[in-house]
Amino acid sequence: MAKTATLKIDDQELELPVIIGSEGEKAVDVRKLRSTTGYITYDEGYGNTGSCQSEITYIDGEAGILRYRGYPIEQLAEGFSFEDVSYLVIYGELPTPEQSAEFSARLRNEAPIREGMVRFVQGFPRGAHPMAVLSSSLNALGAYHSQMASNNHERDLKHFDEAAAIAMAKVRTIAAHSYRVVRGKPLNYPRPDLDYSENFLHLMFSEPYEEYKATPEVASAINLFLLLHAEHEQNCSTSTVRMVASAGANLFASTSAGVSALWGPLHGGANQAVLEMLNTIHANGDDGSRFIEAAKDGKARLMGFGHRVYKNYDPRAKIIKGSFDKALESLGITDDPLLDIARRLEAAALSDDYFISRKLYPNVDFYSGLIMNALKIPVDMFTVMFAIGRMPGWIAQWHEVASNPKSRINRPRQVYMGPVPRDVM
Ligand code: CMC
Repeated sequence: MAKTATLKIDDQELELPVIIGSEGEKAVDVRKLRSTTGYITYDEGYGNTGSCQSEITYIDGEAGILRYRGYPIEQLAEGFSFEDVSYLVIYGELPTPEQSAEFSARLRNEAPIREGMVRFVQGFPRGAHPMAVLSSSLNALGAYHSQMASNNHERDLKHFDEAAAIAMAKVRTIAAHSYRVVRGKPLNYPRPDLDYSENFLHLMFSEPYEEYKATPEVASAINLFLLLHAEHEQNCSTSTVRMVASAGANLFASTSAGVSALWGPLHGGANQAVLEMLNTIHANGDDGSRFIEAAKDGKARLMGFGHRVYKNYDPRAKIIKGSFDKALESLGITDDPLLDIARRLEAAALSDDYFISRKLYPNVDFYSGLIMNALKIPVDMFTVMFAIGRMPGWIAQWHEVASNPKSRINRPRQVYMGPVPRDVM
């Protein structure tokens, strides 16, 4: 017999169905709660709320497990390309060699943006944050590809393969263009002979007088960074993408909203905030201990620490940290004061009762900012890089919403605490 939960309220007893996920996750189905009892659930911050059923990513935060479509992140991080992992996330299976070649060719063909879009991106002022440019430009893509941005999911889905390739290929081009525009540099055009990560570095760093050549170590560090960020179930930006998609919005509008959510320092913006925090600690002549005390007193937040879901080491942080020394060695970096501070902060936090009792561990952003800093990626591009990496996840999640015939508009309720009726006179 199917398991149920019993809720007793106002002398009424209600049997609520229980849903068990494929990994044994348990959920009480409250969809009939309000219509039967008049009550709603209250869960500010959604810490106990399942907003959907999804087949894309599994996380066990207590055990520090992350799997894309069933495959452990540790296995995918061992030598898979970001393109193939993106294919897995979007389509559910790792590609065959033919599918991989076809997907790469599609990304290559879609890499340039139209000249109108180039002018649009060039219109942003110097000094603009590249995340502002990225979010607006992604939404603008819908204007240039209106046949797949009709805001009719049935029609948009007919062009899904093309739209997915456009979003994945062009997010990288727009990101690199935004970097160059806000610095007043001339734009580079994508090169068909380079892979996804190498092309990104070329678009960012090639100069008219000198072609940028990525070393294999740098290209592989970028590949790893993107792959580790490819998908992470119902985080703030992905929930935003699903929320916007639930209203019927197209892929470009939905992912553009995701970029805006990602920008926040409690989410993707944390990688930029980690580096800024380390710089401040360094500039103040602190070895990290004063900052830790301030965090414990609630006067500061240790950026790159803590996670809503992981109550253990973030598995992505473990992988990044593991690859870090190798990357630094290949770059000839032996002495880095920020890295020393980061290591001290980590050791201090991991042995401090405040952090232990709250299960606050380093998350993916703690070391990723340092890696990108070592790779000479400018700080304001860190979150943009996160957005490029997360695009396959957003695409897959948009597709789940758009292709679900039972999908309903996402519309939470509230508990009203404002004034009761009163008269103006
Ligand atoms: N430094 C100091 N104290 C912290 C921190 C931190 N980074 N994170 C949480 N706490 C404390 C918090 O003050 C609270 O203490 P108390 O119980 O005494 O009130 C307790 O730990 C629980 O924290 P919370 O704010 O209720 O946790 P949350 O699940 O709402 O927030 C978080 C999760 C990631 C927003 C938060 O840990 C944080 O702000 N971390 C720093 C920002 C960061 O690194 N974000 C990147 C997350 S990973 C990348 C991504 O997927 O976005």
